[in-house]
Amino acid sequence: MLSGVHVVVLGENEHLPEDLRRSLTGIISVRHIRIKAREVVDIGNGTVVIIDADRAASFSPDDIADLVQNQIRPARPLIFVGQAKSRAPLAAHNLLRFGSFMFRPFSTASLLDIVQFLSSQPRAVEPVPAGEASPTWIVDEHALAMSAGETVLAELFSFAKGQSRLNQPDLIKTGDLLIGSLAESGLNSWVHGVRQHHDRTYQHCLLVAGLAVGFGLKLQFRQSDLQLVAKGALLHDIGKARVPLDILDKPGKLTDAESAMMQKHPVYGEEAMRLEAGVEPAVLRVMRSHHEFLDGSGYPDGLVGESIDDLVRLTTIADIVAALIEQRPYKAPLSGEEAFEVLAAMHGKLDMPIVKALSPLGRLI
Ligand SMILES: [Fe+2]
Ligand SMILES: [Fe+2]
Repeated sequence: MLSGVHVVVLGENEHLPEDLRRSLTGIISVRHIRIKAREVVDIGNGTVVIIDADRAASFSPDDIADLVQNQIRPARPLIFVGQAKSRAPLAAHNLLRFGSFMFRPFSTASLLDIVQFLSSQPRAVEPVPAGEASPTWIVDEHALAMSAGETVLAELFSFAKGQSRLNQPDLIKTGDLLIGSLAESGLNSWVHGVRQHHDRTYQHCLLVAGLAVGFGLKLQFRQSDLQLVAKGALLHDIGKARVPLDILDKPGKLTDAESAMMQKHPVYGEEAMRLEAGVEPAVLRVMRSHHEFLDGSGYPDGLVGESIDDLVRLTTIADIVAALIEQRPYKAPLSGEEAFEVLAAMHGKLDMPIVKALSPLGRLI
């Protein structure tokens, strides 16, 4: 228990939301009170107040404004938590200048960091004047992981083209960010966020990485394996950097010659990485073999059964799910559940116990 740190969560009903309960209970002295309760006036100075913007629907922004301006400030630090969309009414009422906004999903570590920081600050700070940059900070871990992912993919593709050196620490850090941001939040908002991305190849790599890590978490992989999964998935298609763009972006069916070129990308990627020091053999296998099938019908080596290891099998499944749910010019995207129906029909090719164990995630994608 962190002594001297007190939190009050204001919410609409009796129950503390699951993410706040998990983050705070047992670590910090926390009370949960209904948002309209008179008790609000009894909150001690210095107590960190969390308002759950997602669960204050029956409470109008005017009511929140009144509460915040007349009762919470200036002696109590304030954090709003909520989905990105819950920010808009708060911003419209200029309420964000009184506190920080933390995006759902958030990790325990981030929430605790903010709570601790705010509770250690001298209070009686006047809010930022209306119209100026408002919240103390905004925490959006998915955005953080995603922008790290974009940066690292740009580096990786430039490396695969032979234009720059590989930055392995960046790659490892991005993998860790990805694992952290998916560990506590689930797949749904990652997939949603990635779908907004403009560049199709990056979108695909970020999607495969998120799915593979989410799948690994569901299968309770240990941390060291999750790191390999994240690294392998981020890297899996970098060999496409050597495939001409008009083949990569071709809207229709590829000719045989184009297909043959496209099917070289696993080898190109693995060859580029193999010369680097410190790249795990498991990661190289993911890069080379993520298009292999258990029945030997895949490429580039036509591997069969046991010669395809678990990390590769998992990445293959993530890669296929990603392709099925992605928007492409020539096909409508499938839902997550439909994607898993397609996988379930791929008998002999995929590891069915893994597919079966993961299929409940279809609803979340
Ligand atoms: Fe691929
Ligand atoms: Fe892929």
